[in-house]
Amino acid sequence: MNESIIEKINTIKKKKNAIILAHNYQTGEIQDIADFTGDSLELSRKAADNSADVIVFCGVLFMAETASILSPNKTVLLPDKTAGCPMADMITAPQLAELKQKYPDAVVVCYVNSSAQVKAISDYCCTSSNAVDVVNSIEAGRKIIFVPDKNLGQYVKDRTGRDLVLWPGYCPTHHFATIDAVKEIKNQHPDAMILAHPECPKEIRDFADVLLSTGQMLKYVKNSASQEFIIATEIGIIHTLKKQNPGKIFYPASEKFICPNMKKITIEKVLFALEDNKFVIKVPDEIAEKARKALERMVGILPKG
Ligand code: 13P
Ligand code: SF4
Repeated sequence: MNESIIEKINTIKKKKNAIILAHNYQTGEIQDIADFTGDSLELSRKAADNSADVIVFCGVLFMAETASILSPNKTVLLPDKTAGCPMADMITAPQLAELKQKYPDAVVVCYVNSSAQVKAISDYCCTSSNAVDVVNSIEAGRKIIFVPDKNLGQYVKDRTGRDLVLWPGYCPTHHFATIDAVKEIKNQHPDAMILAHPECPKEIRDFADVLLSTGQMLKYVKNSASQEFIIATEIGIIHTLKKQNPGKIFYPASEKFICPNMKKITIEKVLFALEDNKFVIKVPDEIAEKARKALERMVGILPKG
């Protein structure tokens, strides 16, 4: 059954000159049919630089919007139009405009997990893999407004020592994971290293051995001599970790690390998307032009290390 769906997907992909991009949090099945998988920065770069006419984005709305802004001449499809990101919805453009009025001299850095409208009134965009580098690239002494993730923001503030004004947004999937669950897994597997995403709350960030974006986790595990890892981020990444490191063992830090929005994309929906050209995500030119400036800065700043 799935085989025939995959065959159909491949046939239409060829006919329409389409590529499938998938985030590391997608189901194993989706990651396996994708032409390219990656973290938010890697996917943004791929969306900006490929020769396809159609991009099927297996991720959430802000990712498809980012692809549309960076590649305005391509058709960008999101197979489930309800796949959003609750953290991205935690700040609106009017709320950011009000904050900017309060700190008129501040530079605005927005996490890529934000709406196109918020990006359009920001100076820089960043992802979790280059947030520290983006903030460090800003002229010393400037006040910086960082939205919407308070956890990533606090991590960047700690790493850079810069003057950051934080917004109280958070990712529900990471924020509600409990330190007790992580400690419990560590008790069961004392030799395992804890890899956590900077979207995790402070207690988990402090308890972790290393803080990394999802793309950085994949590279870290490949190069590490350790054999066991506790993964404190969305469980989708464990599929690729296992595939790339057959001898190593991975434990989810908590069974709660599931993003319901990322899991809305199925291979059936990918097929429908390709068959019927849906759902087209097109950021209006006027917003896209403004947001592109902040996004181009983001894709241009390489993460260190
Ligand atoms: P990265 O894959 O860039 O680490 O982002 C994590 C995330 O929460 C995306 O929604
Ligand atoms: Fe948004 Fe969190 Fe899901 Fe990422 S994991 S899409 S930040 S809700």
